[in-house]
Amino acid sequence: MKIVPVATFDCVVFGATGDLTLRKLLPALYYRFRDGQIPPDSRILAAARSNLDDAEYRHRAIDALHKHIARTDWDEPVARRFLSRVFYVRVDGASIEGWEKLEQLLAEHSDRVRVFYMATSPDLYGPISRNIGAHGVATKNSRVVLEKPIGHDLKSAREINDQVAEVFSEAQTFRIDHYLGKETVQNLLALRFANSIFERLWNTDVIDHVQITVAETVGVEGRGGYYDRSGALRDMVQNHLLQLLCLLALDSPISMDANSVRDEKLKVLRALRPIRPHEVATLTVRGQYGPGAVEGKPVPGYLEDLGANYPSRTETFVALKAEIHTWRWANVPFYVRTGKRLPQKVSEIVIQFRAVPFSIFPIEAADLQPNRLIIRLQPEEGMRLEMMTKEPGPGGLRLRPTALDISFEKAFATRYPDSYERLLMDTVRGNATLFMRRDEVEAAWAWVEPIIEAWESRAESPRLYPAGSWGPTSAIALIERDRRTWHEEVA
Ligand code: BG6
Repeated sequence: MKIVPVATFDCVVFGATGDLTLRKLLPALYYRFRDGQIPPDSRILAAARSNLDDAEYRHRAIDALHKHIARTDWDEPVARRFLSRVFYVRVDGASIEGWEKLEQLLAEHSDRVRVFYMATSPDLYGPISRNIGAHGVATKNSRVVLEKPIGHDLKSAREINDQVAEVFSEAQTFRIDHYLGKETVQNLLALRFANSIFERLWNTDVIDHVQITVAETVGVEGRGGYYDRSGALRDMVQNHLLQLLCLLALDSPISMDANSVRDEKLKVLRALRPIRPHEVATLTVRGQYGPGAVEGKPVPGYLEDLGANYPSRTETFVALKAEIHTWRWANVPFYVRTGKRLPQKVSEIVIQFRAVPFSIFPIEAADLQPNRLIIRLQPEEGMRLEMMTKEPGPGGLRLRPTALDISFEKAFATRYPDSYERLLMDTVRGNATLFMRRDEVEAAWAWVEPIIEAWESRAESPRLYPAGSWGPTSAIALIERDRRTWHEEVA
């Protein structure tokens, strides 16, 4: 694969001592540097409030790289060269302290592409942007990257977007949803629009329903402070799962250009039928994990993970039934679920086709199963089309389900880059196709907000489910009421 270097850039990362920077951003930048995509003069200006110098920060950075980079990908001289391009700046992004040093450093290369990456809590995006504006460091060639979640609800999302917009234009604003950077998620567009066989079947005439599952085995992993204020609906559904739903449901964009793709996603979000307060109990399920066992090991429940000595009503599991009010998707429910401490880490999409209208085969020959397309986003990326075929042999006519199976890993035998690698390079290139536009983020909040409000106004708590199960039993009831079942294969 030919790697085209991006322009030389300076990337200022606010929140440089935080988990996201150390676990995701620095390793992603290391890989792009190693592969020659980042020009050697580029700089990473790591900005945070701690009192550190370059050497101390680089020490932390190297520990993080060792931890998050596969040993086979480690190249000592490259790592040293990479770290020599990382500079620490002590600055309080939200107050006036420490900005002179950042100004001086940036002034050394005033014509470079500048990326301001907000790896901080969303309530700082506005204050930091204002400081960037006040110190005159936002040039024409600058972009700002905002991590999800943008805000806590529609109102706070609008406020943050307004504050950032005082300094950066919409074209300079890159709202990250790292699911959009996953290879297999981008592949959904290739699958749908680079093949003629699927698009003609992609509608209510042929599709019975769609399932989207993003299951994790991990718990809250030391992020309890953030997570307990957020919960699965805000942390996963409002962004990652709705973005997947958009890519599955959108009409053909006129091109791959950023606004064409985002216009089509926005249409899907706007066509989502609002879930009314009285429907929340039947169309949504929220759960919280209790103690149990995952992958054979006992694990504590959410409250213990949180270290909380107070009850929490935060959900760690959500299942819901969404409907898209368009001709294409009339009567095709989208069942969506996500949760922590489920039995397997798996993200997959199931397209369940309608049953054949009539069977010409004798009952004893076949229990005809409708076709099913399973798109595995992670792990073991691949795709499987399940179909009925005749069992070979002369012993009479017998049909059975067989699968056309593609493993992307085997087909391409390549390392799947982490989504941040692609997204960081796209910000430098100024390509916003895989980023969320302001109106998309706000439309997604507008759809989930009535659900949050209805949950908050009800006295009952989320249903408990044992860690290591597929969520509360009401999630099974949600789909079985419609005479359908979740697709589950435990490895
Ligand atoms: C993040 C959420 O956006 O996505 C986390 O905040 C979640 O709670 C993570 O664990 C899942 O991402 P991935 O790439 O591991 O599927």
